[in-house]
Amino acid sequence: MHLDSPSTRRARPSHERRPPRLWVTRVDDVTRQAVLTLTVAEGQAGFVVAPRDDLTDIEADPCSEAHAVLHDGEVVGFYHLDFHPLGIAERAFPQPSCGLRSFLIDTRHQGRGYGRAAMHALIQDLRARRPDVQRLNLTVNCRNVHARALYLAVGFTDAGPLFHGGPNGPQHVMSFDLTRAPEKRVNR
Ligand SMILES: CC(C)(COP(=O)(O)OP(=O)(O)OC[C@H]1O[C@@H](n2cnc3c(N)ncnc32)[C@H](O)[C@@H]1OP(=O)(O)O)[C@@H](O)C(=O)NCCC(=O)NCCS
Repeated sequence: MHLDSPSTRRARPSHERRPPRLWVTRVDDVTRQAVLTLTVAEGQAGFVVAPRDDLTDIEADPCSEAHAVLHDGEVVGFYHLDFHPLGIAERAFPQPSCGLRSFLIDTRHQGRGYGRAAMHALIQDLRARRPDVQRLNLTVNCRNVHARALYLAVGFTDAGPLFHGGPNGPQHVMSFDLTRAPEKRVNR
């Protein structure tokens, strides 16, 4: 399935007309079916809940948003924004916060820079739509070294002690300061 990027749908100055190759959008009737087919490798299954197992619950929750990651119009990934106050590690964060959950790039598309580009795109989108939210928080399994390295590379920092609440072992709690100066967007 291929969709137009948001920037091709509205008039822009000529110097800005090159559409982004990767972008994020709320899951809707057009993207939903493709989102439900997204999978991760067998060894990654304990790190994330696949959309086919939690999309319906996310859509039914008024404090949650389901998002698709698209590259050249193809759905390649997914994430869940969780606005519940104690949504991440059952912890009350001091500033207005949002949780990032179920972040994944489909196993067929991993290792091409989409994960890193998606992080930049989702941060940019969140800043634009929800300027009231100051921090983006998440947990990442201590065995998930690639995801943790990615989060550190884009600017997340550790936010306190490990969380021991999940069934798959301890998790780092990490946080990103959305009020800091935005970085240049990466467009794969
Ligand atoms: C974590 C994940 C989203 C990364 O997506 P991706 O598109 O493969 O990542 P990228 O290609 O953008 O790579 C990001 C960085 O991680 C490194 N990396 C990613 N996967 C790697 C692997 N299997 N081996 C070695 N390095 C890896 C890359 O080298 C890259 O570093 P660089 O930007 O300094 O070169 C993806 O692997 C995934 O969906 N994993 C399963 C679900 C998961 O664990 N989600 C996180 C839950 S907290």
